[in-house]
Amino acid sequence: MAGSIGEVIEIRDVAKYFGPVAAVDGVSFGIERGEFFSLLGPSGCGKTTLLRMLAGFEHPTQGDILIDGQPMVNVPANKRPTNMVFQSYAIFPHLNVEENVGYGLRNRKLAKEEARSRVAAALDLVKLAGYGKRAAHQLSGGQRQRVALARALVCRPKVLLLDEPLGALDKKLREEMQLEVRQLQRNVGITFVFVTHDQEEALTLSDRIAVMSSGKVLQIARADDLYENPNCREVAEFIGNMNLFEGKVAAAAEGIVAVDTATGRLRVPYASPLDAGATVHLAVRPEKLALLASPADGVNAVKGRIIAQTYLGDRRQYLVRIEGLTKPIAVSRQISGTEPSLPSDGDVWLTWPPQLGRLLTS
Ligand SMILES: Nc1ncnc2c1ncn2[C@@H]1O[C@H](COP(=O)(O)OP(=O)(O)OP(=O)(O)O)[C@@H](O)[C@H]1O
Ligand SMILES: [Mg+2]
Repeated sequence: MAGSIGEVIEIRDVAKYFGPVAAVDGVSFGIERGEFFSLLGPSGCGKTTLLRMLAGFEHPTQGDILIDGQPMVNVPANKRPTNMVFQSYAIFPHLNVEENVGYGLRNRKLAKEEARSRVAAALDLVKLAGYGKRAAHQLSGGQRQRVALARALVCRPKVLLLDEPLGALDKKLREEMQLEVRQLQRNVGITFVFVTHDQEEALTLSDRIAVMSSGKVLQIARADDLYENPNCREVAEFIGNMNLFEGKVAAAAEGIVAVDTATGRLRVPYASPLDAGATVHLAVRPEKLALLASPADGVNAVKGRIIAQTYLGDRRQYLVRIEGLTKPIAVSRQISGTEPSLPSDGDVWLTWPPQLGRLLTS
């Protein structure tokens, strides 16, 4: 299949085996030019391996990688239009900031003046103008990471590959750097392929996210779409918090489907035909549920008891035990000051309009 015009990277049925282990297990997708694209997934799912194959540090056991329409099979890492930023700050302790950034240009045979101005421009980009003569040990963690970014950017790659570049930073600095990295990407317009196992980070930064698991790509979508329309249980549970009701399709149906669960019949929209008796999951986010002190009429009303609650400033998070379900249901309720109070040791009712639920078949 020919790649789309806007794609800078095409990954075609790529797999990587280490002995019997499929670190990457047959993945195909494209990355658009200028896109901030993230690979997200739990530890060991193959993110670094896929990134290293894009960089040319690993060779696929199977499949092709094209960058700018060119097959990369026989192209060594240093001849690819890519550059990589590693998780641990890989800056040289014996070189100062300028020398660290200039190191990326060492094989480029640039005139001294040209090299100097490129280094200065790269330091400017990462807000380290004036730091050129600083020794590596005189830098904070965030500054060191910016030096690593500048060193990668100084070569003006078409694609910047970033492997958990903010992983070693504390939460506050990490959040600051996230904004900076995003801004930087917009300014330079280079395609970023960003690896993280932190879903919040991926949701904050990315144009699109590929969710990976066990070497496979489960879903590729924009952040809001991943959150609102996960295509399977694994994605639903990996992105944010999700409640799942297992059940069977009551009757062959299309449109609003009735699902028989351990807590009774629930309804959920679904666009494609489903067979009666098929096992499915109804998924609904904690913030889509209303929590009431008295019985609710109508569809999707479930009785339970509050077993725990957590105050989170702007909202309160409840865990509600439902008879017949092994896992309690999470409910997130905004604190407005006017919401009706709830019995702490009596029955409560959960309810939600069918349109706010999602039906998952896998
Ligand atoms: N050089 C190697 N030799 C053997 N197995 C490897 C090698 N590199 C990676 N693996 C295995 O391949 C799988 C994927 O590893 P990879 O490093 O790509 O995961 P990851 O998603 O980057 O995880 P993390 O979030 O922990 O960095 C793991 O099971 C890992 O043990
Ligand atoms: Mg990794």
